[in-house]
Amino acid sequence: MHNNMSHCIDINSPYCPCLLADTNHCVSCSRLQGKETCDCNWAGVCVMYEKHWQPKKHTSRGGEGTVVRVEVETEYQVIQQINQDTYRLEFNLPDDFAKSLDKAGSFIFMRKPGDPDFYHFPVGIMKVNQNKIQVVVEAVGPKSRRILTSGDTNLLVRGPYFNGVLGQPWIDNTENSRILLVAGGMGQAPALAIASKLMKKNNKVTALLAPGYTGEIFVDIELIELGIEVENVVSMRRSGISRLTCLFADHDLVVSAGPDEQHYGVIDAMALAGVNLPMAATNNATMCCGEGICGSCQKETSDNRFIRTCKVQTNFMNLVRD
Ligand SMILES: Cc1cc2nc3c(=O)[nH]c(=O)nc-3n(C[C@H](O)[C@H](O)[C@H](O)COP(=O)(O)OP(=O)(O)OC[C@H]3O[C@@H](n4cnc5c(N)ncnc54)[C@H](O)[C@@H]3O)c2cc1C
Ligand code: FES
Repeated sequence: MHNNMSHCIDINSPYCPCLLADTNHCVSCSRLQGKETCDCNWAGVCVMYEKHWQPKKHTSRGGEGTVVRVEVETEYQVIQQINQDTYRLEFNLPDDFAKSLDKAGSFIFMRKPGDPDFYHFPVGIMKVNQNKIQVVVEAVGPKSRRILTSGDTNLLVRGPYFNGVLGQPWIDNTENSRILLVAGGMGQAPALAIASKLMKKNNKVTALLAPGYTGEIFVDIELIELGIEVENVVSMRRSGISRLTCLFADHDLVVSAGPDEQHYGVIDAMALAGVNLPMAATNNATMCCGEGICGSCQKETSDNRFIRTCKVQTNFMNLVRD
């Protein structure tokens, strides 16, 4: 992936063309932005052609030719309590839905059945085993507490969404390489999904883990079982970031899974060590619709554009620091 290149995560998926193409706001196609000429960065598919000549099945909430995400009801089981407010949950989804989530960077929106739409919140996928899905949820505020403290275990799950990691092409396309995986706190959950993808491509992965605000390291054993060399630190800020400066030299790619503060720490550590590795980083934007519509996930890029990060893939290093 070129450093400044942005593209829509949904292109070439069943979810393209999306609702944005109905209103001249397509992320990829200049014609579907209302311009006269085509200046797309050919991604193997013409969104304009798909929109006008390959209409897909549409549903009640989508425009003509638009496939919208499904929402299904399921029931979760708590399979691990990680700390007072953080739980590993498992639930079943229909086969196709579960399969579509078996991808680094996948996430879903969750809410309790009967609650209004605005209760839903994004949650990253940690593990997919056939139709069983595992996630880790921290009950921090009104939306997440509603799932975990309302007394019943019914759940509405909407998805699949794919843009949970910025710089994802590096994860998808890196093989036979050495990767440094830095994971802190809740970032450990997507880190497990990312690590299992990387290991399938014959990469050698070293993981540096810290408990973060969750207070626990909860993926180290599973990472070791995948064949990953794991180093645990007490605090990413106090000891992990400085430890990184010694580790960069042996690696081709760095993946940071955790809060933005950790991503910035990794970038600063690379600058200090005089290395410039490509970096993939978990996407921590505030997301409400996940469809590029509401604007809550919008970020400014270093070339003064505004992108909606629920849809648009970019290099995290190109985003203006908050
Ligand atoms: C791609 C993605 C994957 C995520 N994966 C997980 C996960 O695996 N497990 C997990 O527990 N949490 C995850 N989150 C964060 C989770 O969505 C928020 O913790 C949740 O929305 C908090 O809502 P609340 O009402 O419980 O708390 P609030 O009190 O509203 O917020 C608590 C914290 O969560 C952030 N937050 C609030 N609403 C949102 C929102 N709509 N989108 C993103 N952040 C929000 C706030 O900025 C604040 O820092 C993920 C977020 C994103 C964007
Ligand atoms: S979450 Fe609504 S535009 Fe991205």
